[in-house]
Amino acid sequence: MEREIKNNTLYFEGCSTTELAKKYGTPLYVMSETAIVEKCREIRETFLNKYERTRAAYASKAFLTLSMCKIIEREGLCMDVVSGGELYTAIKADFPAEKIEFNGNNKSIEELELAVDYNIGRIIVDGLDELSLIEEICKEKGKKINILYRVTPGVKSDSHDYIVTGKKDSKFGIPLDDEVIFPAIEQAINSAYVNFMGFHFHVGSQLHNNESHLKALDIVLKLIKDTKEKYNYTTPELNIGGGFGIRYTDDDNKKPYAYFLDPMMEKIEAFSNELNITRLEIVIEPGRSIVGEAGITLYTIGTIKDIKGIRKYVSVDGGMTDNIRPALYQAKYEGVIANKAEEAKTDMVTICGKCCESGDILIRDVKVASPERGDIFAIFSTGAYGYVMASNYNKNPLLATVLVKEGKSEIIVKRQTYDHMIANEVIPESLK
Ligand SMILES: Cc1ncc(COP(=O)(O)O)c(C=O)c1O
Repeated sequence: MEREIKNNTLYFEGCSTTELAKKYGTPLYVMSETAIVEKCREIRETFLNKYERTRAAYASKAFLTLSMCKIIEREGLCMDVVSGGELYTAIKADFPAEKIEFNGNNKSIEELELAVDYNIGRIIVDGLDELSLIEEICKEKGKKINILYRVTPGVKSDSHDYIVTGKKDSKFGIPLDDEVIFPAIEQAINSAYVNFMGFHFHVGSQLHNNESHLKALDIVLKLIKDTKEKYNYTTPELNIGGGFGIRYTDDDNKKPYAYFLDPMMEKIEAFSNELNITRLEIVIEPGRSIVGEAGITLYTIGTIKDIKGIRKYVSVDGGMTDNIRPALYQAKYEGVIANKAEEAKTDMVTICGKCCESGDILIRDVKVASPERGDIFAIFSTGAYGYVMASNYNKNPLLATVLVKEGKSEIIVKRQTYDHMIANEVIPESLK
């Protein structure tokens, strides 16, 4: 367990959180290498080693730094990127090109060129005109690249609307109407510039129920069967996305990977036997589930505003700029005053950020020990979609990130300075 309490203080992966706050300043992201490695191990044991011809591509949008690329490579996973910036980060970390898969609903020509130049493993084509763009680039460069089609299976998963992606009314993926999907498949099969590997779907994120994965799988298996019958072409691969939920609060009934993957693999095996084909190579794209619970954020408490009979606002030195999720999709978190971890939770408070937005609330109604200016507040499970969604709103600098392991800490992202923030700004002659 990465979290424990000693001498009234919260420890995370053997490190005193108050010492971390003192050493690196706050607000601060703290990522447990051990917790990340443990998740990769679970994926290897319950999926990669259990089933032959499988891959796990870490969805780097959840948390990506150069160091994270190194951990993912060492743990034997592939990497899913969704932008030139993510791809560039992977390239800069010398991540093996053939293990990179490129998603995204509006890849630019420059991004596609970077992917082709670097000879990445797969491009997951997400729009009808994208294949033609790729063909042109490959023709010019004399290359051939592996592609999959991301399709929208038309299932609605049980999560916040902003993180549901598999329904038909979605900006992601190619719809499965016959007149849309089959010409696209034909183009890919006949293309001299791509190897058509198969289909990809991703139904949503933070899911605790396997129903939408299974429904989507049925729909896409039918598409694979139809493709075989229509074109005598067996797609060798299938990417079933990510979306496996984590625990933020007691409301989250987190399930192991096997809960999602075993029944899917069973269906896929049966399908392959029925069609008398070699079992498809199966790829998953977990993001949040690898890093979410591996991260905590440390803040220093400042102003406390007690509106008698209404609410006690406890302000911290970060907020929606380092964690947009509560403001964006009413995400819920738990936290504790790290230097009062053993004290009775006497006060019902609302933890708010320092940004000029009333919606800048990190946790609404949480019971904590009596808060005072200077206390350190720790919020749990902030490892996914925090650092990567951070902003400079109100010109608040981006946080530092430290990696902790067995009582040791190392900086992996330096704190942004005010000078960094204005580095790209210029005053034109007309204003001087
Ligand atoms: C295509 C795709 N794959 C994988 C993921 C990762 O999802 P999660 O972090 O929920 O595992 C996402 C997230 O939105 C996605 O859009």
